[in-house]
Order: sequence, then structure tokens, then C-alpha cells
Amino acid sequence: MSSPRRTATITAVGKYLPEKVVTNAELEESLDTTDEWIRSRTGIHQRHMVSNGETTSDMTVAAIRNLMEKYPLDVDKIDCIIVGTVTPDMLFPSTAAIVQQKLGASNAWGFDLSAACSGFLFGLDTGTRFIESGRYEKVLVVGADAMSAVIDPSDRSTAILFGDGAGVVLLEPCEDGSEGIMDSLLRIDGSGGDYLYMIGGGSRQPATAESVAKGDHFLRQDGRAVYKAAVKGMADISAAIAQRNGLKAENIRLFIPHQANQRIIDASAERLGLAAEQVLSNVAMYANTTAGTIPLGICDAVEDKLLQPGDNVLLAAFGAGFTWGGIYIKWGHTV
Ligand code: ACO
Repeated sequence: MSSPRRTATITAVGKYLPEKVVTNAELEESLDTTDEWIRSRTGIHQRHMVSNGETTSDMTVAAIRNLMEKYPLDVDKIDCIIVGTVTPDMLFPSTAAIVQQKLGASNAWGFDLSAACSGFLFGLDTGTRFIESGRYEKVLVVGADAMSAVIDPSDRSTAILFGDGAGVVLLEPCEDGSEGIMDSLLRIDGSGGDYLYMIGGGSRQPATAESVAKGDHFLRQDGRAVYKAAVKGMADISAAIAQRNGLKAENIRLFIPHQANQRIIDASAERLGLAAEQVLSNVAMYANTTAGTIPLGICDAVEDKLLQPGDNVLLAAFGAGFTWGGIYIKWGHTV
């Protein structure tokens, strides 16, 4: 008889949202926009924003401390810290290294993972393989972004869409394979790079006085092209991972999609045939926190007691790259 497959399961979650809240009405004061336009096109009502020098590593550490308030985690036992982010504190050293030091996690290694809005999903799959291999016992997977650091506050087409926040999950082994991350389907397609990017500050265009004057250190996007690709990409991959795991709408307890725009969420949910109560949506309150949205959604679902052991949960994301993916979880015993 073959021995059971060791899986990785989420045993604890944590989150952090900066104290400062910016409503649509406040954006009306500085941008040619309206609360009504933002709500009807995106579903967003408000977003949180870092202030007073707060960084992505600060938000990450606060989310991990929130997890540790609920779950006994000895920092010396953390094996690996994976931080999905496109707004690291600095290009290097990694945000993971800064977080390691702030936590005092003396036996950990780790790294940043750049996959934009799919950063948490790619990190979750990577952390899962680390646990499944038997090499590691405790892996923190973070999705954290301070999007306000890369948004042009005078560009109404992007400034309304994003917010700042961080979420984290702790992955540990489930030796009998009865719960945890069951399947993943992840993709990248670099031809999407023309539609959503930040050109300045890398090796292609190091920062200069001219590049800063042109605003090349800000995110740029073709909103319509991204919207079209996101609707199709997220709906297709959600349907594909559900189908290959034999999951029909009635077997899915909760769909936790990336939170960019309520219309993208609705299109994916409709494709899966899900009712509103099977779909987590918090885009109204947090806006698009890029890598943060899915772990924040998981954390909200746990706090609201929406999940029981044995529930089928689907995650799905789409973002810059293009990057996209879906993950199927058999829910476990999570705090
Ligand atoms: N307030 C008022 N008017 C605006 C605003 C604003 N904030 N922004 C754009 N407009 C105007 C445009 O200038 C345009 O005017 P025009 O017709 O006179 O040229 C008009 O509104 C319509 O613009 P569209 O871009 O066609 O508006 P659309 O309905 O496509 O909505 C949006 C724009 C919300 C950005 C949408 O395209 C979208 O959500 N795209 C996805 C982008 C996204 O989510 N990116 C995040 C990262 S990737 C991800 O997470 C999936």
C-alpha cells in the first residue's frame, strides 16, 4: 500500500490594513472623477493607504503579528518567508530579508516573488511544494503591496483603483493528505507586458531626473485591454481548475478571487455558476491591493467564520505580466 501524500495546509492567517482610509469622495477633491463613476465602474468605495513612512515590510510584519496573536508560532521555527509584492521596500535587499530581521526569525530563509496581482497565488504554490517535499515544516506566504508608492496621484484612470494592505498565511504539513492545497494551475504570458507596467527604476531605464520628470516611476496601464484580458483569463482558469477537480457549483463553498473590480469578479463567478454568497468580495472597502487581495480575502473569510473543515475553496487571480492562475483548497483547521 502506498503511503499517503503529504499536503500543505493553511493553519493560520493574518492581515494588516493601514489606518488611513481614503474615500471616493476625498478623491473627488483632487481628481476629475466622481464617487458614482468609481462605484459603478469598479465597485470600489474606499481604500487604505500607508502614511508616516510605513512600508511594505511594516505592513507584512504587522500581518504576521496579527497571525501570531491567534496562533502560537515560535519565530525561530519559521523555515521560509515568501513575500509576493511589486512594491518592495527597495529593489534589494528583499522585503523578505527585512521582514526576517524585524521578526527576529533567526532560522528562516526567504525571498520576494514578483508576479503582481498573482504574487500570492504563485507564492502559495511555491510554499506548498516546499512543504510537500518534506524539507520544510513552516512556511509563511505573504501578499503585500503599498500601491500608493507607485500610483500617479494625478492620473484618474489608475489612482482610483488601488489601495495598500498585506495578508499572510502559515503553511504546515498535513501528513495524511486529507486537507490543504490540492491543485494549482498557473500561467504567465509576457505579451501582456505592454498593457500594464512600470518602466522606470529597473535596468532598462534606471531612474534619472528626466525619467522621474516624465513619471516613469509610476504604474501605467491600458485599462480596457487589461479589463478584457482579466475577465477572460480569470474566468477561463477558474472554470478549468474547477473542471479538472470535478467541482460543480454546488460543491464550491467559497470562491476567493483577486479583487480588482467587481465586474471582473462577477464575470468569473457567473462562469462558475456561483451564487453571491459563494463569492468573497471586499473590493468595496480595500480596492485593489495587488498581491494583498487574496490573503486579505482568506483572512476575512476566516474572521467571518465562512469556512469549515472539508469545504472546497477556489482562489483565482489575474495581473500584470500577464500572470494568472487558480488554486483549489480542501479547507482545513485554520485560525
Ligand atoms: N473618473 C471619471 N471618468 C474616468 C475615470 C475616472 N476615474 N477614469 C477614466 N475615465 C473616463 C475616460 O477618460 C473615458 O472617457 P472618454 O470616453 O471621454 O475617453 C471614460 O471614462 C471611459 O473610460 P474607460 O477606460 O473605457 O472606462 P472603463 O469602463 O473601461 O473603466 C477601468 C475603466 C475601471 C479602469 C476598467 O477598464 C478596468 O477596471 N480595467 C481593469 C484594470 C485593472 O483592474 N487593473 C488593475 C491591475 S490588473 C488586475 O488587477 C486585474
